[in-house]
Amino acid sequence: MSGEVQKGLEGVVVAESQLSYINGDEGRLIYRGHDIETLAAEATYEEVLYLLWHGSLPTESELDSFTTTMAEERAVDDEVLATLADLAAADEEPMAALRTATSMLSASDPEPDADPDDQAATLRQGRRITAKIPTILAAYQRLRDGEEPLAPKEELSHAGNFLYMLTGEEPDAVAEETLDMALILHADHGLNASTFASMVIASTLADTYAAVTGGVGALSGPLHGGANQDVMETLLEVEDSSKDPVQWVKDAIDAGRKIPGFGHRVYNVKDPRAVILEEKSRELGDASGERKWYDHANDIEQYLVEEAGFAEKGLAPNVDFYSGTVYYQLGIPVDMFTPIFAMSRVGGWVAHVIEQLEDNRIFRPRAKYTGAKEAEWTPVDDR
Ligand code: COA
Repeated sequence: MSGEVQKGLEGVVVAESQLSYINGDEGRLIYRGHDIETLAAEATYEEVLYLLWHGSLPTESELDSFTTTMAEERAVDDEVLATLADLAAADEEPMAALRTATSMLSASDPEPDADPDDQAATLRQGRRITAKIPTILAAYQRLRDGEEPLAPKEELSHAGNFLYMLTGEEPDAVAEETLDMALILHADHGLNASTFASMVIASTLADTYAAVTGGVGALSGPLHGGANQDVMETLLEVEDSSKDPVQWVKDAIDAGRKIPGFGHRVYNVKDPRAVILEEKSRELGDASGERKWYDHANDIEQYLVEEAGFAEKGLAPNVDFYSGTVYYQLGIPVDMFTPIFAMSRVGGWVAHVIEQLEDNRIFRPRAKYTGAKEAEWTPVDDR
């Protein structure tokens, strides 16, 4: 065994997977053989969940039954809503509230003692969690705004129902399709940090709730899911500064700041999801007559890639660079952006947990010990 430390596990292959394939040099992403561009244009999020969890695209009747069952599982218990109200009163961050509420869901699971070897039971638990996350998030946002949570509507799509529960109004087709597309784009992405965290937890044979709760925790960090919120806050800072966006970003780089939404462990070129979201961001700006968020982001991208040498360093926009401007233009509060990422990525976490359990071995890497080997013991009174 090599004693070389692979910091951040870069380049280390720890599992086989049939879920998503990323070519970081070509900017290509596929889920089970289907290009992300096709899925974004043609599929629904529910269809993509079925594909990831069951291995192939559903027939019409399979999709109907899957969608209906998931829609029936959207409601959450009053205890969860009461806890969310307490967390809202304490001004907890939405990702922290989601982490707590996800963990609480196990208390009302009809199969609390499901055997990790029972793949169908794990899938049912994953489906219930996935169905309920939008309800938790929308309820939390309304409670923070001093409004009562709304009960889910079973007849709406996963994306449409979330927007309804968030705003109190059924969304128009553009908003529903845009969010649905964003959910598809974020559903899976190889062994990213949150997915790997879920897999590590599942490898101990802890339950699905523990694995998903761990995924939420890992996704909350600014180096991972938190970046989409950071991008929008950056663009708002640019706007507030009244500086030209390019001048603002030059100053930020001179000050040693990392630019959120740029760089990726796997992609050396523009993330294919950023390409799709950029187009959507521009379309939304054109439709509303206010393109400034898209324009600011695009000006910054042009400068960093073409003049600041980012391309030579393999730094290009990642998925978060344009998703923030898309959500902002849909009227979604900035600190709900990362929770929306979680609402989608839970599909990937569950799929990888299932794969992990199919051929499980507990994760147990080692550290290279660099501490002292012969320290002298001094009793506490003599220190
Ligand atoms: N802005 C400016 N410089 C960046 C940068 C960014 N967004 N991302 C990476 N770099 C630079 C680093 O400073 C480093 O430079 P150095 O070699 O001179 O020290 C080099 O590029 C490699 O970066 P590193 O952080 O070691 O890469 P990583 O693979 O460990 O991390 C990310 C990948 C995504 C965590 C990193 O690019 C980042 O922090 N990006 C911003 C946050 C973000 O958008 N996250 C969402 C990812 S989907």
